[in-house]
Amino acid sequence: MSDRFLPQAPGPIGVFDSGYGGLTILKSIREQLPQYDYLYLGDNARAPYGSRSFELVYDFTLQAVRRLFELGCHLVILACNTASAKALRSIQQNDLPYLDSSRRVLGVIRPTVEIIGNITQNRHVGILATPGTIKSESYNIELKKFYPDMHVTGQACPLWVPLIENNEHNDEGADYFVKKYLDLLLEKDPQIDTIILGCTHYPLLLDKIKAYCPGHIRLIPQGNYVAESLVNYLQRHPEMAKSCTKGGHCQFLTTESPEKFTENATIFLKEEIHAKKIILG
Ligand code: DGL
Repeated sequence: MSDRFLPQAPGPIGVFDSGYGGLTILKSIREQLPQYDYLYLGDNARAPYGSRSFELVYDFTLQAVRRLFELGCHLVILACNTASAKALRSIQQNDLPYLDSSRRVLGVIRPTVEIIGNITQNRHVGILATPGTIKSESYNIELKKFYPDMHVTGQACPLWVPLIENNEHNDEGADYFVKKYLDLLLEKDPQIDTIILGCTHYPLLLDKIKAYCPGHIRLIPQGNYVAESLVNYLQRHPEMAKSCTKGGHCQFLTTESPEKFTENATIFLKEEIHAKKIILG
């Protein structure tokens, strides 16, 4: 594909995740930038991405980005840490120049890393994330660039996303796994005073995470920081702001059952939405 085939008229801001997690980011972005149009794409049929290989996450993410570009988006937010960790850099450096050098893809790791130094008091920071994000070491690498003296400890939580994608996260059975991974993290570094919820699905488990987390620890969901960073980005890039339509509308696409997505997203966003099915790949 080259830019000859992509629509050049302004379009919605694309927001992509493997499934429902990106809705936590979309919600915060829409609170801070309600005037824009958004197109959300959840690859629910292939979620979770967290235990998939680097190559697959990259392929799936690139397919989603291309489709969002074809559907008119000039700016796409990877509202997924796993995709941000495993695919963002390659897409920005290798694919965008061929797809359309004027379009942009942004992730969620950098905006989170940038603010953490203002939050931790003792510079002991924990990361809870998918196995893929932890294995990529993206948080460690980025945090150490900004704050070389920071103690960064990661813990993979392989069952949290499957619980959420299967709508089991409010059930009692989820408590065991929430406590298990939190305990494992705090055993590794008992001095942690700040925990990044490094997966956009995890705010859906926030009540349970709070219940098992010692009260003095700050829990950091990413939504507001990603939204603030996007506000800032659009102020610094007025040409991109002009390429994003302003109508306050939001559309939803899923690679799995649109009925299931509609039901779950309507509950989470507390507004009536209607998802459409899309096939990727
Ligand atoms: N929301 C994605 C993230 O932030 C979940 C990845 C998955 O599908 O496992 O990493």
